[in-house]
Amino acid sequence: MTLTPELDPFKLAKALSGKHLIGGKLVPAGCGEVFEVDNPATGEIIGTAAFGTKEDVDIAVISAKAAQKDWAKQSARARGKLVAECGRVLSAHVEELGRLVALETGKALRTESRVEAGVLADMFTFFGGLGSELKGETIPFNPDMLTVTVREPVGVVGCIIPWNVPLLLMAMKAAAALVAGNSVVVKSAEEAPLTVLRVAEIMNTVLPPGLFNMLSGFGPECGAPLVEHPDVKKVTFTGSVETGRIVYKAAAEKLIPVTLELGGKSPMIVCADADMDQAVAGALAGMRFTRQGQSCTASSRLFVHESIHDEFVAKVKAKVDAMVMGDPLDEKTDIGTIVSDGQLERVRSYIKIGEETKGATKHVCSALPTDPKLAKGRFVQPVIFTGMKNSDRLCQEEIFGPVCAVIKWSDYEDVLAQANDSEYGLAASIWTRDFKLAMDATKRLEAGFVQVNQNLVVQPGLSYGGVKTSGIGKEASLESMLEHFTHKKTIIFNMK
Ligand code: NAI
Ligand code: MG
Repeated sequence: MTLTPELDPFKLAKALSGKHLIGGKLVPAGCGEVFEVDNPATGEIIGTAAFGTKEDVDIAVISAKAAQKDWAKQSARARGKLVAECGRVLSAHVEELGRLVALETGKALRTESRVEAGVLADMFTFFGGLGSELKGETIPFNPDMLTVTVREPVGVVGCIIPWNVPLLLMAMKAAAALVAGNSVVVKSAEEAPLTVLRVAEIMNTVLPPGLFNMLSGFGPECGAPLVEHPDVKKVTFTGSVETGRIVYKAAAEKLIPVTLELGGKSPMIVCADADMDQAVAGALAGMRFTRQGQSCTASSRLFVHESIHDEFVAKVKAKVDAMVMGDPLDEKTDIGTIVSDGQLERVRSYIKIGEETKGATKHVCSALPTDPKLAKGRFVQPVIFTGMKNSDRLCQEEIFGPVCAVIKWSDYEDVLAQANDSEYGLAASIWTRDFKLAMDATKRLEAGFVQVNQNLVVQPGLSYGGVKTSGIGKEASLESMLEHFTHKKTIIFNMK
């Protein structure tokens, strides 16, 4: 069976309303309840999502457990072929998925949502090719014994995902888990349940029923029972540090492995000799202005050398000013909205903290949309604060919004110490033409993902994950799939 792409996201949102996907079928929540999903650009209700509870988790896990047995018996390459086939089929739905995720999250279609839908498909294609890499080792333990290791799947994997990049973050987890021989139950974020449900529907035209299940619901009612379920043998979570701690504790009770991708407050260090235009473009990309800064990797601490500080800030501001804020579905729009009222409040409260910070100057960028249809939209003008100190709250706490803190620096050792003076350690970048300095910084920056003269996002094939409170474990690569989605079994044959 193939599904025809539905390019009207409003129609699709209605069609997907009120459902989980369990055992290959779209089904309502066991309790019969739903919650509303709105369009962050207008506040209008676009559909509903099934209100998942323990009852639904139990059914989904039973279904996943049964499907996993046969899946694990298939050859790794056969599994890989089906995972890659998901990628192929999903790539035919990029436009559809891009529009729907723009509608439910408020991320602009052209600059963000369509791009994300493309990477979703690519992630499945990438992991699909890794089946034959699930290799073990031969160990020279004893000449009379053949000693080998084999990679075995862990079983049912629970994936808990956030709303900011729901497709990509889900794909990183699910594609790796599946090719390694596991089955998957995903709990979507309450702010973005519909597009990932459509992805599940599409994937279920390719995969055997029960292998990939999608539940919608809230953390305590649906996420917690998934983590706590005795038949869930691994949890992979992306979200806040606070919830990450809860998930880690619950998993500790069961003694199961966990991957956590949590927050960030990533430093971007611009040196005096940096290529100015390249670094300005890097600051725009790194800060994720087009995504309203809603990124765990956002380079929200911008350290600029004093000799270029004023020119650099002026250039960044001019570029953000030139960005068009508007309806996420409009091709002209560069910047969409904040996802929810809760996040909007959080962003506004941090802007207020910035205004009250001693020595800080606020630079408001771009312009709010004037279309009356968008009057109730969750739009916020991006803000750059100059005159910040690394010890200020705006430089220490994750905002997850379009708020960039600029810190002027003069001494390399000092800026490095400041960059590392953070509880987080997800990403970092340095911008310089001095290769030796760059090399030194890459060694000393405390982060899981360090870049020189660029601010790329997650790439299939490159291990991604943080140190310190930014998380535990890696994702998106061959190594991460082997380490985090399989058990290594040691087998000894006595040949004597
Ligand atoms: P969150 O961490 O509460 O939510 C992420 C996911 O965890 C959602 O699916 C949620 O339903 C689920 N969840 C919540 N409580 C749970 C529980 N007790 N057990 C199991 N699952 C649970 O993040 P939220 O509330 O969306 O955003 C709050 C802040 O977290 C943001 O402002 C941002 O700073 C940070 N965040 C970081 C993300 C990242 O990519 N690292 C993504 C989203 C948020
Ligand atoms: Mg929360």
